[in-house]
Amino acid sequence: MGLTIQDLNVSFGHENVISKLNLELDTSEIIAILGPSGCGKTTLLRTIAGLQTQSSGRITLNGERIDAIPCESRGIGMLFQRPVLFPFKDLLGNILFAYQKKNQRDMNDVRSVIQEMGLEGKEHQAIETLSGGEAQRVVLARALLTKPRLLLLDEPLSALDVDLRRKIAKEMRSTLKTRGIPAIHVTHDPIEAEIIGDRVIHWTDLQPGGDDEE
Ligand SMILES: Nc1ncnc2c1ncn2[C@@H]1O[C@H](COP(=O)(O)OP(=O)(O)OP(=O)(O)O)[C@@H](O)[C@H]1O
Ligand SMILES: [Mg+2]
Repeated sequence: MGLTIQDLNVSFGHENVISKLNLELDTSEIIAILGPSGCGKTTLLRTIAGLQTQSSGRITLNGERIDAIPCESRGIGMLFQRPVLFPFKDLLGNILFAYQKKNQRDMNDVRSVIQEMGLEGKEHQAIETLSGGEAQRVVLARALLTKPRLLLLDEPLSALDVDLRRKIAKEMRSTLKTRGIPAIHVTHDPIEAEIIGDRVIHWTDLQPGGDDEE
């Protein structure tokens, strides 16, 4: 159970960005993948999420092959390098987006997520007035409510200053552990990787002959 990626290849034209990549993630495990800019971290996460088509390979989540099913059926959440928020909705509106239909919402869960993220009292604040750290907490709160089977974290803290980055990294880890949500976090910050991950994996160790890769 968990996530298994076997011999994954992703290319753009003639350029192989991901080549024979293999990765295993246990249920509830958090791994951090450390790699330099441009190595293919975002491409890997987009491929797992179903936002990018692979050339070949096999991706299995909890025993189910997911690489051929559409992204909305995979049950995977993703936080992007820059927080994606709707400027015309307030903080609460952004958190509730993508969460169940109105009558099926568990507002207790919504309140507890808001509290966990330290956002209580800010529910009706306009999005453009939030700090960078708060904006990323909103995106995380929104992702948690959808109860993803796997959460992909694409350097969500890279725009924050170092101290805040490490503080939120700790909070993220404890939230994910409490909820038992497995996650793949990619970053080029080794300390952030150590804080978040149960394991830290170097990009070059994911692929055979990694040092020869682009
Ligand atoms: N849709 C695309 N079409 C063509 N090339 C692409 C596409 N997406 C990514 N690439 C290329 O693939 C390579 C890897 O990009 P990617 O965004 O995955 O790197 P990254 O490791 O996330 O880098 P960073 O740490 O800077 O975010 C880059 O050379 C990029 O230009
Ligand atoms: Mg990237």
